[in-house]
Amino acid sequence: MYTKNQLLEVEITDITNEGEGVGKIDGYTFFIKDALIGDIVSFIVTKVKKNYGYGKVKEILKSSPYRIEAPCLLAKRCGGCQIQEMAYESQLKFKQRKVFNNLTRLGGFDREMIEKIMEPVIGMDDEPFRYRNKAQFPVGYDKDGELIAGFYAGRTHAIIPVSDCLNGSMENKDILDTILNWMKRYDISAYDETSNRGMVRHVLIRKGFTSKEIMVCIVINADKLPHYDKLIEMLCSFDGIKSISYSINKDATNVIMGDNYHTIYGSDTITDSIGDLKFKISPLSFYQVNPVQTKKLYEKALSYADLNGEETVWDLYCGIGTISLFLAKKAKQVYGVEIIPQAIEDAENNAELNDITNAEFFVGKAEEVIDRLWNENADKQDDKKAYAMTHPDVIVVDPPRKGCDELCINTMLKMNPRRIVYVSCDSATLARDLKMLCEGGYELIRICPCDMFPNTVHVETIVLIERVRNAKDFVQIGIDVEEYYRIKDEEN
Ligand SMILES: C[S@@+](CC[C@H](N)C(=O)[O-])C[C@H]1O[C@@H](n2cnc3c(N)ncnc32)[C@H](O)[C@@H]1O
Repeated sequence: MYTKNQLLEVEITDITNEGEGVGKIDGYTFFIKDALIGDIVSFIVTKVKKNYGYGKVKEILKSSPYRIEAPCLLAKRCGGCQIQEMAYESQLKFKQRKVFNNLTRLGGFDREMIEKIMEPVIGMDDEPFRYRNKAQFPVGYDKDGELIAGFYAGRTHAIIPVSDCLNGSMENKDILDTILNWMKRYDISAYDETSNRGMVRHVLIRKGFTSKEIMVCIVINADKLPHYDKLIEMLCSFDGIKSISYSINKDATNVIMGDNYHTIYGSDTITDSIGDLKFKISPLSFYQVNPVQTKKLYEKALSYADLNGEETVWDLYCGIGTISLFLAKKAKQVYGVEIIPQAIEDAENNAELNDITNAEFFVGKAEEVIDRLWNENADKQDDKKAYAMTHPDVIVVDPPRKGCDELCINTMLKMNPRRIVYVSCDSATLARDLKMLCEGGYELIRICPCDMFPNTVHVETIVLIERVRNAKDFVQIGIDVEEYYRIKDEEN
């Protein structure tokens, strides 16, 4: 048996979905952080379990052909990038395989079928750095009591001071330094999560990559932001500052933003464009972080939705209505639902901003809103709007990492749309949800991973599923079932 702190050597033969190298010694598996497939490493055992253990690299004895030198000096310590030392082509292969593994292992889908319908991952065409339009820096103190801001180290809440994250935009460093200087000058404390004391918890910086407009929001553990006039003075020296606000969050929680925000300078929102649509974004609203890839992601989702202008479409978990408005340009009517009220306010303003009149939005939990509408309206065959809304042609869902609520899945099944386009940022919960949807009468048609988060283990996936045809459908569209299958058989 192995012991903690033991020094061992191993060849890395696999990689986990979380980006840890996998090496086996006499049938016993070690998961080793920062080791890549093809590396031979010496490592220190950090944890020993009955059938597997963990380790951290001491020395790379032979380097993997997929290994590159990480451009960021803090890549190993910072929890933001798990696979920056992997060449970008290998990162893309890893992500393709991650989605494949989750769908086959967790979803139980047939490997051959998945291989057949899965498209190659959509990667970035340019350098996979400086792609993020948003950064949220935790603020705190180092062990010497020095004020710092940066990112959390992997799996902890210890702050690694990162002055310039290479995934983020260039301006972040100077803006962050200015905020730390303001805090020092006016004796404003940083938050301490162990005692739930102190003032500044996080700094959010967001930039519209097309508009160059910048938003700063300070998250505080207090009712008011002191000396904010001085902060405004100091931040206004930067080009592009369009909105400065603070958000109050006094809860002992991992959630970053508070429930509300107060604008102290400029506008409540910044504007950005994706393709030919413009979007206003407020501090609490979700907005995809990689604008270059977002365009490709939405194009793929839209092509999977395959609209001809006659359809009623739902966009569940719609955020500020980005996907909804692209859908609205190609459909008869779009309905969006989103839990954050400010995001729905943004969505409604965005529809107006883009002269789109066939999109309507609801605030609330997607599962509750569609379940309520189903119960109230599903049998109102004489009320065209109510009936179409509860019997949509297409549903697009784009939930957070935890995936869809079971009630949401069950109501989607009752609504019985022809097509569902599932956009997911966690292929494990995606696999779980697709299994339920396919057991409920749908089949997988296309799958496409898209790399929204280079240098990290995260991957976005777009999936098209279609309702399995049944006799009722054939009768509705006037086709003889027997005849249909005879022709199909002949075709095959
Ligand atoms: C991954 S984002 C997608 C947003 C949008 N489709 C986009 O591309 O920008 C998920 C969204 O779901 C919202 N959300 C989280 N839980 C929800 C729920 N139960 N019901 C409705 N919306 C929810 C979040 O606030 C967030 O805006």
